[in-house]
Amino acid sequence: VIRSIKGHEILDSRGNPTAAATVTLDDGTTGWAAVPSGASTGTHEAVELRDEDPRRYGGKGVLKAVRNIESEIAAAAAGKDAADQKALDEAMIALDGTQNKSRLGANAILAVSLAAARAAANSQGVSLFRYLNPAGPYSLPVPLLNILNGGRHAANSTDFQEFMIAPVGAPTFSDALRMGVEIYHSLKSLLKKLGYGTNVGDEGGFAPSLRSNAEAIEVIIKAIEKAGYAPGRECAIALDSAASELYREGRYVLERENRALSSAELIEFYAKWAADYPIISIEDALFEDDWEGWKALTARIGHKVQLVGDDLYVTNIKRLKRGLAEKSSNSILIKLNQIGSLTETIATIEMAHRAGWTTIVSHRSGETEDTTIADLSVALATGQIKTGAPCRSERTCKYNRLLAIEAELGAEARYTGAAAFRIS
Ligand code: PGA
Ligand code: ZN
Repeated sequence: VIRSIKGHEILDSRGNPTAAATVTLDDGTTGWAAVPSGASTGTHEAVELRDEDPRRYGGKGVLKAVRNIESEIAAAAAGKDAADQKALDEAMIALDGTQNKSRLGANAILAVSLAAARAAANSQGVSLFRYLNPAGPYSLPVPLLNILNGGRHAANSTDFQEFMIAPVGAPTFSDALRMGVEIYHSLKSLLKKLGYGTNVGDEGGFAPSLRSNAEAIEVIIKAIEKAGYAPGRECAIALDSAASELYREGRYVLERENRALSSAELIEFYAKWAADYPIISIEDALFEDDWEGWKALTARIGHKVQLVGDDLYVTNIKRLKRGLAEKSSNSILIKLNQIGSLTETIATIEMAHRAGWTTIVSHRSGETEDTTIADLSVALATGQIKTGAPCRSERTCKYNRLLAIEAELGAEARYTGAAAFRIS
C-alpha cells in the first residue's frame, strides 16, 4: 500500500531537467523511477509539462510536474495498492482529466506509474521483469544499436537520424552485444582512416559529416565485415529516418544530397535501399500524418522489411488501431513517455502482438540511469530494444541491465535473434 510519494527534478543526459519520483510503501520499501525526454518528438505525444519560467533552466524546469506529483497525485495515490497498476494508472488519468495528460503532465504521471511498479517489485523481492510478468516466457531482445547519429541528434551529420545495427545471428544476448561493440569499434577506426570525425551524438553513435546518406550505410557494412561478421545474416542494418523532421510543405528534404522528394519518390528510394543493402527495418520512414504514404510504403516493401511507426503512433492505442485497420506498417515503436503510463504502454504492446506486429521498446534521446525499458522488453518478450550505441552510461546501463537479467535467467535465458523480425 502506498504511503507517500516524493517528486524530484533531476538531469537527463543532455543536461536538461527531467522528472523522477520515489514511491514509499507501508512496509517501508521504496521504488524510484525517472522519465526520459525526446528531441525529435511526435506532435501527437502526451504532454511533457515544463515550467516555461525563463529564469530557470531556460524555461525547461519541471518543478510544476514535481509539485503535481507531491500534491494532487500523492493525495490520490495514498492508500492504493502499488501492485494494482491498472487502478493506480486509471486513477491518475482520471485525475488529470485531459486526453493528452496536459494538466498534470505525462512526465509527472509516468514517474509515479513506474516508481510504483518498482516499489511493488521491491516489496515482493523480485526483479522488475518477473514482477511485470510472473509467468513468463521471457526473451532477451535483439539490441538495435544506433552506431551512427544524424538528424536532430547530431549537427552536420546525416539527414536520416539513426543508423543501427541488429546482431540477429548471435546465439545469446551477450554475444549479440559483444558483436555490436566490436562493430562499433571497427566503425570508429574506419571513420578515422577516412578522415572523418569520431565525436559522438546524443545516443552515443558517431556523428561524421558524410557526403551522403548512402555513404553511412556503406561504411557501416564495411565495419561489419571488418569486425569479421556477415552483413545481413549475422548483423543486419536498421534505420530511423525520423522523417517528420525532414518534412517541409509536402516534400522530404535531404539536405546532404540537395534533394527534395515527394512521398512516392521517397518510397522508391527506400525500395532501392532495401534491395541493395541488408536493411531489416525502417522506422519513421515517412511523416507522422502521411497515412496514405505509409499505406503505400507497406504495400511496396512491407513483405520483406519491418516498417516501424514511432511518431506515427506515439505508443497510442487509438493511432495504433487506425494503423492496424489501414495496414499502415507492420511494427510499432514503444516509448513509455509518449503515452505516459505503464498500463497504457502494456495495452499498446499487447494489441500489436495480437495483430502479429513486431514491437520495439525504446529509450529517448534524452535519457537517465533508469533501466525500466530493459526489464519491460524481457517481460513482454518484445524481441527488440532500441537503446543507443554501446557508449554513454545512460545507454550502457540498459545493456548492462540486460546482461544482469540474462545472468539471472541462466539456462532459462533465450535470445530472440532473427525470429524477432518475423513479420506477418
Ligand atoms: P527522440 O528520438 O527521443 O529524440 O524522439 C528517438 C527516436 O526518434 O526514435
Ligand atoms: Zn524514432
